[in-house]
Amino acid sequence: VNVEIPTWRRGQFEVSSDPNRLDLDVVHGYLTRSYWATGITRDKVERSLAGSLSFGVYQLAAHNAAESQVGFARVVSDHVTFAWLGDVFILEEYQGRGLGKFLMECVVAHPQLQGLRRFVLATRDAHGLYAQFGFEPVPDGRFMWKKGDP
Ligand SMILES: CC(C)(COP(=O)(O)OP(=O)(O)OC[C@H]1O[C@@H](n2cnc3c(N)ncnc32)[C@H](O)[C@@H]1OP(=O)(O)O)[C@@H](O)C(=O)NCCC(=O)NCCS
Repeated sequence: VNVEIPTWRRGQFEVSSDPNRLDLDVVHGYLTRSYWATGITRDKVERSLAGSLSFGVYQLAAHNAAESQVGFARVVSDHVTFAWLGDVFILEEYQGRGLGKFLMECVVAHPQLQGLRRFVLATRDAHGLYAQFGFEPVPDGRFMWKKGDP
């Protein structure tokens, strides 16, 4: 069966949920120096991708040159009731020109992420980004988490 992989185009950029397009060097390179996953190993990143619905942001290149990955996000979900969004980034030199919002538009539009009961994320300072896509602070004391390996 040829299942179509959702892809969105905006100018010279594309967002795709095709796992085969991901550039592990870019994803690991960013995450290992991020504030939330500092020092994460390449092996752990690779294994996390295997269990996720990942989104890559790509700068398309002209004349058969290779595309390059400039952003990323991943979702862990049962695709019916629950999803968690994490590891969201746009490479520093591409930030501030709408690509984070483009990426989020694609995440919330993905056909396998519709009608969920809960779609959760944790953020230190990007609340204003996610608020534009319907995310709100958790209002009450029902949400709990188990703190594991830091
Ligand atoms: C956060 C991030 C993904 C946003 O992507 P971006 O391409 O730089 O952002 P955009 O140009 O699409 O604009 C983001 C929008 O969210 C808002 N915003 C709120 N908090 C923000 C924050 N901490 N960083 C960036 N934008 C933020 C911006 O004001 C902007 O809204 P506006 O256009 O209505 O003013 C990117 O800056 C990034 O990778 N930052 C470092 C890693 C990180 O913090 N990731 C999120 C972890 S939860």
